[in-house]
Amino acid sequence: MQTVRIGLVGLGNMGRAHRASIRAGKVEGLTLTAICDRAESLPDPVPGEAQFTDFDTMLQSGTIDAVLIATPHYFHTSMGIAALNAGLHVMVEKPLSVHKADCERLIAAHKGPQQVFGAMFQLRTDPIYQQIKSLITDGELGTIRRILWDCTDWFRTETYYASGGWRATWKGEGGGVLLNQCPHNLDLYQWLFGMPDQVTGFCQFGRYHDIEVEDDVTAHFRYTNGTHATFITSTGEAPGRNLLQISGERGILSLEGRSLRFSRNRSPMSEFSAASSAGFAKPESWSIDLPIPQGSASHNEVLQNFTNAILSGSPLIAPAAEGIRSIELANAILLSSWKNQSIDLPMDSAEYEQQLLHRINSSAHVKKTPPPRTISQDDFAKSFK
Ligand SMILES: NC(=O)c1ccc[n+]([C@@H]2O[C@H](COP(=O)([O-])OP(=O)(O)OC[C@H]3O[C@@H](n4cnc5c(N)ncnc54)[C@H](O)[C@@H]3O)[C@@H](O)[C@H]2O)c1
Repeated sequence: MQTVRIGLVGLGNMGRAHRASIRAGKVEGLTLTAICDRAESLPDPVPGEAQFTDFDTMLQSGTIDAVLIATPHYFHTSMGIAALNAGLHVMVEKPLSVHKADCERLIAAHKGPQQVFGAMFQLRTDPIYQQIKSLITDGELGTIRRILWDCTDWFRTETYYASGGWRATWKGEGGGVLLNQCPHNLDLYQWLFGMPDQVTGFCQFGRYHDIEVEDDVTAHFRYTNGTHATFITSTGEAPGRNLLQISGERGILSLEGRSLRFSRNRSPMSEFSAASSAGFAKPESWSIDLPIPQGSASHNEVLQNFTNAILSGSPLIAPAAEGIRSIELANAILLSSWKNQSIDLPMDSAEYEQQLLHRINSSAHVKKTPPPRTISQDDFAKSFK
């Protein structure tokens, strides 16, 4: 195969951005040969790009080798399973699914390494997070003792929530900030630090917006080795911030906005504590602002990597199977809030599914905001991290 023929399902904010990039030739070796959405959401037809209003018909059309799923969240599971069963390569937008049981079903449909199955976690391509990951894996920080991530720079307005009927409902989206904005942060979290052993969550539902799902979250993650982490997020705090502090034996690495500062201990703190004869001494330390390589998180880089994986077997930046971890963290934070107790991981996916179904079936929330308004592509582009 010289070129991957891809079919895109979902031509909303994200799908239109993907379409524009692929059509502009920004992903080498990838051609958009089919699109699928409701008739009223399809653009004017263009040569070489078949149009479909039925997903299964697109799958069986013979016009595509791969599928890019950019629909509301619940469809990721059903469409992903159908595409994998049709023998196609699949790239699914985040989140992988809404809940862990659906992730398990979706991952079970993957046929093996000959079928490329990736997830759109483009923040993994951000040079700043790659820098942090390499400092951790190279041992620069030493053993990690404590993590704080305050990612409250996801401010969203009532207009945003009114822009789609599926948004911010248990039935349509399956959650709020944890399912829509934070899959990125939670994916980075597990990519950098691994999964904790226990999760305690404090979610507030519709604290800042006229919505039924969570828009304010504080969570605590515990590891059996004694490491603790605090994770905070919200779509209601302005200006908000993105502050990640990692405290290790060799010092503190601090990301704030786009700056990265490392206060490095000359000797590991535990060693110093055991060896020092002085009661109030601290290890000598230096602070430096680390240079960040040029570049930013890129959807196109993930699509390029997906295409290269199909054409030449490159390893994926974000294999879809890893998407279950951010969902497990999000689900555990919500379950813990509902039950008012800590949740041990791995969590019970069936219990979470039942709890979510209960919220869908008992929902009495009516959106009081004005009828849906559209978000311009310019506004949407500003939302990328
Ligand atoms: N990676 C990122 O940075 C990023 C950013 C924004 C959104 N997303 C993800 O992209 C996905 C879509 O989000 P959005 O903001 O574009 O939503 P949106 O509401 O703007 O668009 C969704 C589109 O899907 C279509 N659709 C719904 N049901 C369908 C069906 N059964 N068959 C075909 N088309 C159908 C709708 O008509 C609409 O055009 C979500 O999973 C979201 O989390 C990812």
